[in-house]
Amino acid sequence: MAAAMEKAIPSLLSEGTLPIPGHVPPGLVFDFDFFAGPEFTYQPHQSLTTELRQRPDIFYTPRNGGHWVIGRMEDAGELVQDPATFSSNPAVSGGAVTVSLFKRIPIDQDPPEHAEYRKLLNSMLSPAAVRLLETKVEAFARDLVASVAAKGECEFMSEIAKRYSTGIFIELLGIPLELRETFVEWVDLAVRTADPAVSRQAYAKIASLMDETLEMRRAQPGDDLLSKLLTKTIGGCPLDQEELRGIGIVLFVGGLDTVVSLLAFIIQFLAEHPDHVRQLRAAPEDLPNALEELIRRNGINNLYRHIQRDTCFKGVNMKAGERVLLLYSVYGIDDRNVADPLTVDFSRPVSRHMTFGAGPHRCLGSHLARLELRMFLQEWLAAIPEFQLRPGPKLTHHGGKVMQLVSLPLIWPVATRVSQ
Ligand code: HEM
Repeated sequence: MAAAMEKAIPSLLSEGTLPIPGHVPPGLVFDFDFFAGPEFTYQPHQSLTTELRQRPDIFYTPRNGGHWVIGRMEDAGELVQDPATFSSNPAVSGGAVTVSLFKRIPIDQDPPEHAEYRKLLNSMLSPAAVRLLETKVEAFARDLVASVAAKGECEFMSEIAKRYSTGIFIELLGIPLELRETFVEWVDLAVRTADPAVSRQAYAKIASLMDETLEMRRAQPGDDLLSKLLTKTIGGCPLDQEELRGIGIVLFVGGLDTVVSLLAFIIQFLAEHPDHVRQLRAAPEDLPNALEELIRRNGINNLYRHIQRDTCFKGVNMKAGERVLLLYSVYGIDDRNVADPLTVDFSRPVSRHMTFGAGPHRCLGSHLARLELRMFLQEWLAAIPEFQLRPGPKLTHHGGKVMQLVSLPLIWPVATRVSQ
């Protein structure tokens, strides 16, 4: 296998990838493009795990500017606990391939400053704060499901997933109606392009929209997260415009696209597994545990860390200024941590996963995300108990930092619709 890949390296180089650094052993070099690789197009979880199991646990790809890839959950768990070596700040690796126009707070920060900002956000996204949103989210889910139930079909991504997540989030953040569509368009571009120039341009646009929104909230405060942020302090001082913008953007980009993706993966799975739907309908009280199993099975994020100092990690020499890719999308289906990992089994004890990340940067929005997913499933399964994929071409996916279905056409028999 390694020999075959070594042969592939010259052709990769001719495709414009950077030369492979001298300290990288040829046996650790593999062709892996997490934005556009074929393994991300169809059934990415299956394809990725099959491919990763044939490779060393840690390997190097010359794609996307060249970076290391961490294939196993245990190694990732260790790596994220060492921010002094593996930083979250893209500037450490020159910011050449990532966005360095502004600091995305707290996601681009390292200790000790990271902890202060995280604490501030934690109170706004705590389980108690999220519980207050339950009625609103439930009503929103019910209305949205009702908008398609009688039709017997929908394109789930555009008609439901994007509208659901955007609707909740935009209200939560206090983003004015007139900016909604533009915001969503630019977020799509920011997270899905492999081209750093396009990504930078998209983030710049989001930043200026965020500035506009903050201005409006300053003039007319509401009950939303951005209005609350405007009242917060760090070390006794109010947040400055750059900090407010950085936090606002992380909340928006981090909270919107992720829920869209995970919800769609879950609905796709259920559309293909009517027995699992029947189990959920028979025991709705088991939904939280079942949901956790679906979250484990359907990770979505692939994110970088930036190497601050030369290191030897698990026997692999890495140099300052390089990057490592964490495949949070597949750590929940690592066969060293869970048996028969691709199978969704609602009766198995909740298994450890990293769909929400791990370590100091573990997702701050996981309580809100779980609430959104749970409320949606509750309403969808009550109104549309028998749904399936519309027969047609195989479903395709975008790769990148947030893996996502391109489209998800569903059908269901309207006559047998059950309302509860
Ligand atoms: C299904 C939905 C979601 C998934 C799969 C997800 C996943 C993640 C992951 C993997 C990280 C870790 C990033 C890293 O290690 O660098 C993260 C961080 C973060 N997430 Fe989420 N997320 C989701 C929903 C949300 C929502 C709804 C919000 C906001 C309300 C949110 C806000 C954040 C924030 C602020 C961070 C940064 C935490 C820090 O840097 O300390 N996420 N998320």
